[in-house]
Amino acid sequence: MDKNNKKAYVRTYGCKQNFADSEKINGFLTEFGFIITKTPEEADVIIFNTCAVRENAEQRVFGNVGALKKLKQEKPDLKIILCGCMTQQKHIAERFKSKFPFLDAITGTNVLSSLPEIISQTEKNTTIRINQTDKAYSEFKEEIKPLREGNFSANVPIMNGCNNFCTYCVVPLVRGREVSRTPENIVNEVKELIEEGRKDILLLGQNVNSYGAGTDTDFLSLLKQLDNLDGEFIIDYMTSHPKDCKKELIDFIAESRHVSHHLHLPVQSGSNRILKLMNRGYTREKYIELAEYAKKKIPDISLTTDILAGFPGETYEDFKQTLDLVEKVNFDSAYTFIYSKREGTKAADMPDPVSYEEKSEWFKELLDVQGRISERSYERFIGKTMRVLCTGEGRSNQNLLTGKSRQGIIVDFEGDNKLLGEFVNVKITKALPWALIGEMI
Ligand code: 5AD
Ligand code: SF4
Repeated sequence: MDKNNKKAYVRTYGCKQNFADSEKINGFLTEFGFIITKTPEEADVIIFNTCAVRENAEQRVFGNVGALKKLKQEKPDLKIILCGCMTQQKHIAERFKSKFPFLDAITGTNVLSSLPEIISQTEKNTTIRINQTDKAYSEFKEEIKPLREGNFSANVPIMNGCNNFCTYCVVPLVRGREVSRTPENIVNEVKELIEEGRKDILLLGQNVNSYGAGTDTDFLSLLKQLDNLDGEFIIDYMTSHPKDCKKELIDFIAESRHVSHHLHLPVQSGSNRILKLMNRGYTREKYIELAEYAKKKIPDISLTTDILAGFPGETYEDFKQTLDLVEKVNFDSAYTFIYSKREGTKAADMPDPVSYEEKSEWFKELLDVQGRISERSYERFIGKTMRVLCTGEGRSNQNLLTGKSRQGIIVDFEGDNKLLGEFVNVKITKALPWALIGEMI
């Protein structure tokens, strides 16, 4: 489409899935003739793609939207649109509407379906419209080509929504039930990406292990098809669910050519009582067994996790079980969170007697334990040679190049910028808690 000479700015909060959604939004806007800008000040249309997973994410959005008032006063023709998980919830959308009357439109996670109408409507008037459907996310809009960030990596959503109903989690309420893309669409997209020179492909879903449920395909079969493609590239995936992550999948990854040796397997808690209240569908024993199995089958695997401290009714005894599991499994790193009450979830109605201050004390203990483990865990790679995709300038030292190993670990090494986008062999000489340093060989 011809350029309409208008500029659009999209800010994304939350998870990789949301970033992938924004890449589609940017793709759509580009098709529509917009130029995508890097700052809100340059833009004629601003879109905030929001996240609802925890209260602090929501507070940040409220603060950032409030700050747009000044911009709108200076540029009355500016259009401001909110979308995503936060505004999929009716009560939040109403709060935005009354708190910030300068907003032009509010929509939910089905933003791609409503954007054409919103864009043309906001051209005509400036009344706020709340445009949500109960069917959050029913379509993939295959016809819209995402405008991707970066040159060597690519997010590829394989499914949307979630059927699990973990009792603390708002995601099933805002992203609806699971729907999977067809394997043909995914394989064709990945093939094109590889032909374009992208070498780090990240398959995305709330629970990739249930990809294709209810159809005649599944995640293992999808991975097998992708692993058969020619070229040198890494297929990463997230997020796995311990209840659905099968040993045969791990067996396949162990012998695959391209599938990542990084397994992000959120455990959430190490207490069976809490896991049950969370409706997670596995026990600590099952989790530990699965983690041990993965380590045995894929000796150079990097295991990471998510942990939630202070779930309603959790006692210090329960929490100590989590610390114990963390010590036993030896995660390379963990994303740790203090429980945040989400309206509409089952956990929101559970008694929650422990104070936030006390939960914060537990949380510090968890950070200490995991910090101590992360401090030394990469030392196991010292002396090993790793295949590394060179992705940019080093973080530990600007004179170095940085790359990503098959385990998803950052590796910094000395090398020429010409190597960007290439795979190289690096012998590891030093381990930091968050990266490896090595020499190219
Ligand atoms: N409070 C705190 N953390 C949460 N997460 C999901 N819901 C909540 C909540 N209500 C965390 C989980 C999940 C990660 C993406 O966010 O650990 O795995
Ligand atoms: Fe946030 Fe969850 Fe929505 Fe991702 S799916 S943006 S983490 S609420």
